[in-house]
Amino acid sequence: MSGSPPLVEAYDLEKVYPDGTVAVRGVSFRAGRGLTIFMGPNGSGKTTTLSITAGALRPTSGRVLVCGYDVWGRDWSRPRSCIGYAPQAMPFREKLSVIENLTWYGLIRGLPPWESRRRARWLLEQLGLEGLERKKVSELSGGQRRRLTIAASLIGDPEVLILDEPTSGLDPKARASLWSLLRRVAGDKAIIASTHIPDEAEGADYVYIFHRGRVVAEGAPGELIGRYVRYSRVIVKGSGLEVAPTMEWARLVEAGWDRAVYVTEDPEEALPRLVERLLKLGARIERVEVRKPGLAEVFLAVTGEAPEGGA
Ligand SMILES: Nc1ncnc2c1ncn2[C@@H]1O[C@H](COP(=O)(O)OP(=O)(O)O)[C@@H](O)[C@H]1O
Ligand SMILES: [Mg+2]
Repeated sequence: MSGSPPLVEAYDLEKVYPDGTVAVRGVSFRAGRGLTIFMGPNGSGKTTTLSITAGALRPTSGRVLVCGYDVWGRDWSRPRSCIGYAPQAMPFREKLSVIENLTWYGLIRGLPPWESRRRARWLLEQLGLEGLERKKVSELSGGQRRRLTIAASLIGDPEVLILDEPTSGLDPKARASLWSLLRRVAGDKAIIASTHIPDEAEGADYVYIFHRGRVVAEGAPGELIGRYVRYSRVIVKGSGLEVAPTMEWARLVEAGWDRAVYVTEDPEEALPRLVERLLKLGARIERVEVRKPGLAEVFLAVTGEAPEGGA
């Protein structure tokens, strides 16, 4: 979370579904302006937490305040008018056009028709969807539909934007451009978004790591990496690498004839020594990559499990 006062504060959320599944327990978080990401594998409780926060799913216990109002308290509409929510599969009327769908979302947010249409047009432009106004939603590509989903969540100009896996189903390049688009369009709103891909969470201002219904770590990405991971990974590719030895200053974690993987605290220092050593032992080296630790390594360090979709 950045320095500004939090627009969203959640305390000790718990959700037990009717079948007895405990989806979330003891989850607390805060989000101010900027991008806050919930990162975690499938089933870790991200969607449950987001939909409680958005006012779409009642928690079993706990409290969440948005724009200072209790989302599940008596003052029902005030926090909700402050929130734009895009569930993972935003319901659109598939046979109707892009502009009709978007305008309709504006109307149900309480905008007058002309204002709704004006804002819908503006958002389509902002999201690079101009020219698609008359297209049926069913005819959009995956990336276009994702951008329309974001437009729909922004139509009421909410202070808080809640987006569940906004990049799911997109290829890596489209994902990266969606995050930067999102930041640009959302300006200084508070955005809370989820992803199961650690690389994507590295672009956030603040990250909550979810694991089995709990938040197991939180912080700015750099902070988390610094706190939990001391090692970089050095990947050596070539042949004859089965001779690769482990050393005090570079620990061998994986070795095959065409690939050896080391972890080391100081890759700049270790790299030349490592190459020299391997060449002396008769290995042929084609390529050496240093992988800086990221949130995938943080997830591994904190949970002992590899994240899905990790690097
Ligand atoms: N409607 C439901 N009824 C019962 N269990 C559910 C329901 N929705 C989600 N769950 C379970 O709750 C846990 C958390 O799910 P979810 O919040 O969707 O996690 P994520 O979004 O991180 O994948 C999972 O074990 C999931 O199977
Ligand atoms: Mg989910």
